[in-house]
Amino acid sequence: MSIFDQELKRKGTYSVKWDMLKDVFGTDDLLPMWVADMDFLPPDAVLQSMKKRLQEPPFGYTFVPPETARIISNWLEKRHSWKTSAAWYMYSPGVVPSIATAVRALTEKGDQVLTMTPAYPPFFSMVEQNERELVLTQLIEKNNRYEIDWDDLSEKLKHVKMFLLCSPHNPSGRIWTEDELKKISDLCNQEGVYLVSDEIHSDLVYRHAKHVPAALAGDNAPHIVTFVAPSKTFNLAGMQASAIIASDEDVRKKLQEDQGKQGFFTLSTFGITAMEAAYSDGEEWLEQLIDYLEGNLEIVRKGIGDIDGLYLMEPDSTYLLWFDAREKGLSEDEMKEALYQKAKLGVDTGEKYGKGGEGFIRMNIASPRAMVEEGMARLKKAFG
Ligand SMILES: Cc1ncc(COP(=O)(O)O)c(C=O)c1O
Repeated sequence: MSIFDQELKRKGTYSVKWDMLKDVFGTDDLLPMWVADMDFLPPDAVLQSMKKRLQEPPFGYTFVPPETARIISNWLEKRHSWKTSAAWYMYSPGVVPSIATAVRALTEKGDQVLTMTPAYPPFFSMVEQNERELVLTQLIEKNNRYEIDWDDLSEKLKHVKMFLLCSPHNPSGRIWTEDELKKISDLCNQEGVYLVSDEIHSDLVYRHAKHVPAALAGDNAPHIVTFVAPSKTFNLAGMQASAIIASDEDVRKKLQEDQGKQGFFTLSTFGITAMEAAYSDGEEWLEQLIDYLEGNLEIVRKGIGDIDGLYLMEPDSTYLLWFDAREKGLSEDEMKEALYQKAKLGVDTGEKYGKGGEGFIRMNIASPRAMVEEGMARLKKAFG
């Protein structure tokens, strides 16, 4: 039995995924396979570090020590061959707050900000809620894979101030190649556009694929800002700890100014402890996790063969799977009825991921295998 087969009690723990079903889906009797966290314990090394820290009260004001940057930097070099300097690091309670900070710090009200669609919804809302104009470039599907519309992207980059990139891409799990990233970085550089790369999913990579940091592909050019976090990789979203990496001092000053305006000063004691422990001692656990997710993905590939008109977009990365259900010809409401009322399966329908997401479904497979099997049975019930 794998450590990931263990079924955890998550109901009643203030879990968004398990305890907010009624608020989001209108009913709480669904199998929750939506929000992007995992139904797995984090690495034991993280739990031990946190227990040790708990024995060292009080929990007064703290700061992120220089050691934290060195630990993350070692991780990025080891896992992704990206050498970063400790001076490039800043911190943030989350990647979504970092997106908002970058938008506010590096663009003005009314400026245009470009992103791809479909996309993780805060890529839209953080731009619009900060009163910038959202510009979209729609991904093109070719051979069951998303491709960049280069003509459209190049044209739109002429007018925008920032390009928000999701790398790897949520919701499809597509990894952008080194050549693609270099081309994106060169185009942004040429047009004087900031390239802001959300790499929160970059450690959850399937065995056939390889993530390349955008800043590595772009030679750490000053216009590139990167976000990384242990939250997805090690299931620590509730610890609210993430990093912003920017090689340019002037860019960092602007980002710091915005964080200063919010009164943001530091991460929490347990956020720092968990982040350091995860990046220092979590690698072996991550290797096991990736193997387990490969197994879950195989269950899905087998199961989907039995469901007519439903297709998996093969992921390179992430435990979030993107299914194409357009052949079913159902409206969004009919799809919700089939999934939530008939099959009792709590997955996201694609419309909320923006243009191009209509008719798709996003399902989270970071759960014990038995639950993934049940999820596939329910998907079949919804559409079979
Ligand atoms: C691409 C992407 N960015 C950011 C986040 C959330 O980041 P955080 O919880 O650090 O704000 C998610 C969560 O699903 C995500 O998929």
